[in-house]
Amino acid sequence: MKLTSDELRKKWMDFFVKRGHTPISSASLIPENDPTVLFTTAGMHPLVPYLLGQPHPAGKRLCDTQKCVRTGDIDEVGDASHCTFFEMLGNWSLGDYFKDEMVPWSYEFLTEQLKLDPARLAVTVFEGDADCPRDEQTAKLWEKCGIKKENIFYLGKKHNWWGPAGQTGPCGSDTEMFYDTGKPKCSPECSPACDCGKYVEIWNDVFMQFNKNADGSFSPLKQKNVDTGMGLERVLMNVQGLKSVYETDVFAPIVKKIEQLTGASIADPDKVKAIRVVADHIRTATFIIGDERGVTPSNVDQGYILRRLLRRAIRFGAGLGLKNGDYSKIAETVVDKYKDAYPELLSARDKIVHEIDEEQARFERTLENGMKEFEKLCKFLQSDVIPGKSAFRLYDTYGFPLEMTVELARERGKTVDVEGFEAKFKEHREKSHAGAEQRFKGGLADTGELTARLHTATHLMHRALKEVLNDPSVNQRGSNITPERLRFDFSFGRAMTPEELKAVEDKVNAAIAADVPVVCEEMTVDEAKAQGAVGLFTAKYGEKVKVYTMGEFSKEICGGPHAARTGELGHFKIVKEQSSSAGVRRIKAVLE
Ligand code: SER
Repeated sequence: MKLTSDELRKKWMDFFVKRGHTPISSASLIPENDPTVLFTTAGMHPLVPYLLGQPHPAGKRLCDTQKCVRTGDIDEVGDASHCTFFEMLGNWSLGDYFKDEMVPWSYEFLTEQLKLDPARLAVTVFEGDADCPRDEQTAKLWEKCGIKKENIFYLGKKHNWWGPAGQTGPCGSDTEMFYDTGKPKCSPECSPACDCGKYVEIWNDVFMQFNKNADGSFSPLKQKNVDTGMGLERVLMNVQGLKSVYETDVFAPIVKKIEQLTGASIADPDKVKAIRVVADHIRTATFIIGDERGVTPSNVDQGYILRRLLRRAIRFGAGLGLKNGDYSKIAETVVDKYKDAYPELLSARDKIVHEIDEEQARFERTLENGMKEFEKLCKFLQSDVIPGKSAFRLYDTYGFPLEMTVELARERGKTVDVEGFEAKFKEHREKSHAGAEQRFKGGLADTGELTARLHTATHLMHRALKEVLNDPSVNQRGSNITPERLRFDFSFGRAMTPEELKAVEDKVNAAIAADVPVVCEEMTVDEAKAQGAVGLFTAKYGEKVKVYTMGEFSKEICGGPHAARTGELGHFKIVKEQSSSAGVRRIKAVLE
């Protein structure tokens, strides 16, 4: 069956709209006011407050296509199916329908919309443990649909449990759907849990009815939810029996562009990995820069991941013969491919091209410095072996891949202590993983009072900045809140003066002294605009959004949560104002 990405998105939406779901827009790739994760990693991620019981303005049945970034498997990119960016098709029941509806719908979508052969479908269900009983109900539902008993597999938590996305939050047992490629079983025990390639994953239905607590225990949620996720690229590949996601229509033009620019072919076994890495990383970078809350390359947070993706693409691309300016041309192909599904990319086209070209130039300078360092190293070397520590320094500080150092060394009749390099690399990786775990410690959605107050202060400050600076270019570019402080990025071309900072503080403190209630209303984006609310007007389909009003002091489209009254905030103080990137300023502020 020939199926394009546009057709698949449409089939998905039509199917669930017919069953009473409201389509919602993809949320930003950069989670709003959630300091615990860098990127949106699943469709459920922006919906956590609603899975926990807050009413969603669009109702109890939702569906969407969510932009996601996962960089945990970055080293796997280059194989047939790992991607750092992907689209997740999803549908949700927020305390509405449950297994009885979801299982037959899943079967219907797979067999009637995707036209998959029912005899080749295999499913897994939760085998049960002390936290949650064996899911015989789901198995029976599958049988009733027509799935043979021998194609229903009971598996444990490792395979049939999803979530939470951070350390704490909503989670539950799931049922996963696989397509049998027809390969023989690798052993009598072969099942979808096996990675021999016989079974390919198509879809995951999570029955979210638990909250995982900080102490590791599970407590029942207020409501039983359904959360499903289907990876668009993998499904396109599997449904069409393609050998890799790079053969699907989302990647085909990107791969073709790389082939045109380099004369290399993806059919060449020596080139395939590099072409795939460049295609994947440039696609992800394009979505990160072009996001409605897009970031630019830097040494921290999302900006650092972006930098790594771009530099890794450039390193692999150099071997293919990609030159200055080529990477932004590939990015333009990405924009063209996705401009209808994600129009934000089109509005950010110039920015995407500029940022990628700039980063390439910066990386070139770093590499030049690295070469100087390398020459110095060779000059003072006592033996013919470059120590692992030095090779790691070249990698870590100057972005030299190990292969490159080995090659350069060989040209000078030297070798590299590869084992020493790997030991250093591992040590470093463990350290950075420890850092990443720290980030997740707070759980997925910190809805604590402290962050809610800082969030309210952010709105007041945003408005005060607009008034004090009296410049139409002043707009939010990013927000990050921890229980200790708020951090706010906004577009503005110069440093603020001490007087301006003081005036902003005074305005926010006046709004706090007025002790007005924080009022939340639901309305369409057009109504919000008409009322003069600020915010991202990216919602589609006449979707309802939440608008928070604080007396005369602020009106913004926002998901919350907020303090109940401005008077709860205490005293507002700006602790730092600095440049964040070209044309963007960053403020850190606290409530005392
Ligand atoms: N949250 C689940 C997943 O990411 C289903 O949407 O697979």
